[in-house]
Amino acid sequence: MHNGKARAFTNIALIKYWGKKDQQLILPMNSSLSLTLDAFYTETSVSFSKNYTEDLFYLDGRLQGEKNTQKVARLLNLARKQAGINEHAVVYSQNFVPTAAGLASSSSGLAALAGACNDALELNLSSTELSRFARKGSGSACRSIYGGFAEWQKGDSDQTSYALPVESNHWEDDLAMIFVIVNDKAKKISSRNGMQQTVETSLYYNDWLKAAETDIKTAKKAIANQDFHALGEVIEANCLKMHATTLASTPPFSYWTPDSLKAMNKVYEMRQAGQNCYFTMDAGPNVKVLCPKKDSQKIYDELQKEFSEQQLVLAHAGKGIESLETEVAK
Ligand code: DP6
Repeated sequence: MHNGKARAFTNIALIKYWGKKDQQLILPMNSSLSLTLDAFYTETSVSFSKNYTEDLFYLDGRLQGEKNTQKVARLLNLARKQAGINEHAVVYSQNFVPTAAGLASSSSGLAALAGACNDALELNLSSTELSRFARKGSGSACRSIYGGFAEWQKGDSDQTSYALPVESNHWEDDLAMIFVIVNDKAKKISSRNGMQQTVETSLYYNDWLKAAETDIKTAKKAIANQDFHALGEVIEANCLKMHATTLASTPPFSYWTPDSLKAMNKVYEMRQAGQNCYFTMDAGPNVKVLCPKKDSQKIYDELQKEFSEQQLVLAHAGKGIESLETEVAK
């Protein structure tokens, strides 16, 4: 029996990963930059044993079907290959989210699984190797190896595509992100399918790639200078450019709902009234508002005029991946 357990925090991309050039290895078309947050995390334990006859994946106490087990099975196979074993595994994963609004994330989930496999099979991976390993489960997971800001350098091979911490002199500790959780009644297109459809069909995809390259430089400069407005401007514009690619794909689609627009407009209004805040959005309708920590209560109160307390989650910078004690001794 080989046991391992790890905790990883969710990261939110400020400059988005949107598109793969290799779907097997999960090599991205563009580099991306994220902030790891403290409010959402996943704890995952894995046991490999000769006694198991199949891989099983329990998420929040429920045994998952084939579709939800796919990403997990892929990492398990890679871990087995690396360790030279063929034992099946049982994975228990628990998502810790402050509300019941379904904010489960593949970034924390697959990073925690990568960490748990690393411990269970004593793979002794360095941070870079762990980032590469997590990447093969879900692209965004490679950034959750680190706390604070991280850059996923796109590279051009399995060896060269991984995340690294971005030097910020702890500036992330002065920032906050408020999640505006919008009810999703729209038909869901996963980020994996959405980005692939966009790569293959969007008229704007090449322009997105050009813009992403410039945006990441601008964002890194803003972080180095601790310039909140410069960072806010570039992240909001980058998110809008990513979402524009979906409208120009065939068939066209959008992750936005009327409530997403309401939240975006609220951010514009608050900015016009002199508040420091900018939004970003991922492959879903929720809006995330970046602001200085010192202003976060004021901005939270302002958002509460439009959204209920259950819809708002205040987060701060989170830590990198951590190994946890397993209940069963090795
Ligand atoms: C819009 O990492 O979930 O959140 O690599 O296919 O598992 P796969 O996709 P995933 O995509 C995240 C897309 C995004 C932007 C980002 O996190 O950079």
